[in-house]
Amino acid sequence: MNTWGQGLRLSIFGESHGPAVGITLDGLPPGEEIDMEEINREMLLRAPGRSELTTARREPDQVEILSGLYKGKTTGAPVCGLIYNVDARPEDYDSRLRPGHADWTALLKYNGFADMRGGGHFSGRLTAPLVFAGSLAKQALLRRGAEVYGRIAGIGPVKDQALACTPEAWREIAQKAFPAVDEAALKNEIVKAKDAGDSVGGIIELVVFGLPGGLGEPFFGSMESIIASMLFSIPAIKGLEFGDGFRLAALRGSQANDELILENGAIRSLSNHNGGILGGITNGMPLVLRAVVKPTPSIAQEQRTVDASTMQPALLKTEGRHDPCIVPRAVPAVTAAVALCVLDRMLAAKYIS
Ligand SMILES: Cc1cc2nc3c(=O)[nH]c(=O)nc-3n(C[C@H](O)[C@H](O)[C@H](O)COP(=O)(O)O)c2cc1C
Repeated sequence: MNTWGQGLRLSIFGESHGPAVGITLDGLPPGEEIDMEEINREMLLRAPGRSELTTARREPDQVEILSGLYKGKTTGAPVCGLIYNVDARPEDYDSRLRPGHADWTALLKYNGFADMRGGGHFSGRLTAPLVFAGSLAKQALLRRGAEVYGRIAGIGPVKDQALACTPEAWREIAQKAFPAVDEAALKNEIVKAKDAGDSVGGIIELVVFGLPGGLGEPFFGSMESIIASMLFSIPAIKGLEFGDGFRLAALRGSQANDELILENGAIRSLSNHNGGILGGITNGMPLVLRAVVKPTPSIAQEQRTVDASTMQPALLKTEGRHDPCIVPRAVPAVTAAVALCVLDRMLAAKYIS
């Protein structure tokens, strides 16, 4: 369904070319001070039309808060945020199914009743309300010493340089509009794909600093399961690894284990191959994950498809507006999603109230 969470409960709604998209976020503690400037900054990092590397659709993505906020602080009642679609252009779409998009599966599931314009409810536009809710969560977490940062770790075959796992290094990179060390090399991959009428994917890396140990529940409530359920809800996320993830397969136990030491009477590990989670529970080391974003389905090259209205073979070349690469706009969505997961677990465990 479109509702998620235990400690928090969020419900997302809207379509890409309908009047608005939005979210209702229930369970935020009362009295949380909300910095609207920070929310607007994060909304603009995700918003379309802000650089030549994104779609030409231009949305202001200003959030109208309908409830749950009074005199700049949360009241404890559900926060409902609405984001109007002001630059919708539904005439760009017809009944030819876009290969790689959810047009095909929306047709199967909703028997032709789904609003298919620009992906409808399956559109990346639904990440705008997620970024709004995540920004609220991030502010609540920061007040409790936890910081969530994301960066672009690779575009297509080009990997960015490694980044030290320190709050200072990540705070700095998170301030950039294109959060990568070697911006030019990565941007060049996007430009090359765009010039070829094609698209390209990439990898987002994310770190949470300042997490307490002991968050998460065994088995189905594991930190990894909660984060995976949320991250795979974001359109175009197709892979996820925690810590060294798939690279662990090539290591021996002696290399993969994080050896333990005592530091000022507390246990910590010398390395962090497990990404801050063991047995589904945080261990107090930085939580580290990487998410794979696939190349944008809509491309300006001709591909074979089916016209759903005639059920005849067709050819499709997407002439409408689309992102040559989703990765830069997905970074705020991924950080928002993880912030919501951490806050959800803290509230569910009554770690905070
Ligand atoms: C921020 C963001 C922007 C997106 N922009 C586009 C786009 O312009 N064109 C497109 O075809 N898909 C875009 N997508 C991806 C599709 O929504 C997604 O691939 C589709 O819903 C199918 O879902 P799946 O890839 O998770 O299987 C975007 C996704 C995100 C997160």
